[in-house]
Amino acid sequence: MLLDRLKRETRADHDRIEADLDLLRPNLSLADYVGLLQRYHAFFRRWEPRVGALVGDEAFFGPRRKLGLLADDLDQLGAKPSTLTAPVPALASRAEAMGSLYVLEGSTMGGLVIARHIEGVLGLRGPGARYFSNYGRDAAERWRTFRAALADISRPEDEDAIVAAARGTFVLLNRWLCPQEPAHG
Ligand code: HEM
Repeated sequence: MLLDRLKRETRADHDRIEADLDLLRPNLSLADYVGLLQRYHAFFRRWEPRVGALVGDEAFFGPRRKLGLLADDLDQLGAKPSTLTAPVPALASRAEAMGSLYVLEGSTMGGLVIARHIEGVLGLRGPGARYFSNYGRDAAERWRTFRAALADISRPEDEDAIVAAARGTFVLLNRWLCPQEPAHG
């Protein structure tokens, strides 16, 4: 089944980005956090319109847009968006866009853990911390409906492309969000 396959085949990528980001460290500083929001913002600024266009269903995609949350967090923290151009995955179909979206929607699950940590170490809750808290207490339900939609639209012949798009998105995001990561393997 596609959802099991996605989880299984991206597990190593997930564990690597989680380790490289190392967001749950006790000495996470405000400067680290703001720098990370700027990198996420630069990524979403290019990725979100492309994925939105390929998904082609604004009723579904619109409530999942996150660029506004990131812009608002930066604004609240008195920081400007980065002028850097982020790399984005080459996505050519709705199936590939959904594979890439799987990564960012799934990240809202870990986002709740990160949001609690940010509140603990930086004292930020609500304004300035909206991206990671995101769907809040609706997160599990949003994740369930996303997974149902993904299972619904995917045809067996698209599955390899969906998994490849998800893996490509993890790898690219890892390089972009963790620029000082040690070389792997
Ligand atoms: C400190 C960083 C992170 C932590 C602590 C974390 C933690 C988690 C947790 C607890 C889950 C839920 C597992 C479950 O209930 O089955 C999850 C799922 C997921 N996370 Fe993360 N995560 C982190 C970073 C990320 C990042 C940066 C991304 C991608 C940009 C990401 C993508 C995903 C995906 C796609 C899933 C869904 C896996 C599936 O069930 O198919 N996570 N994460």
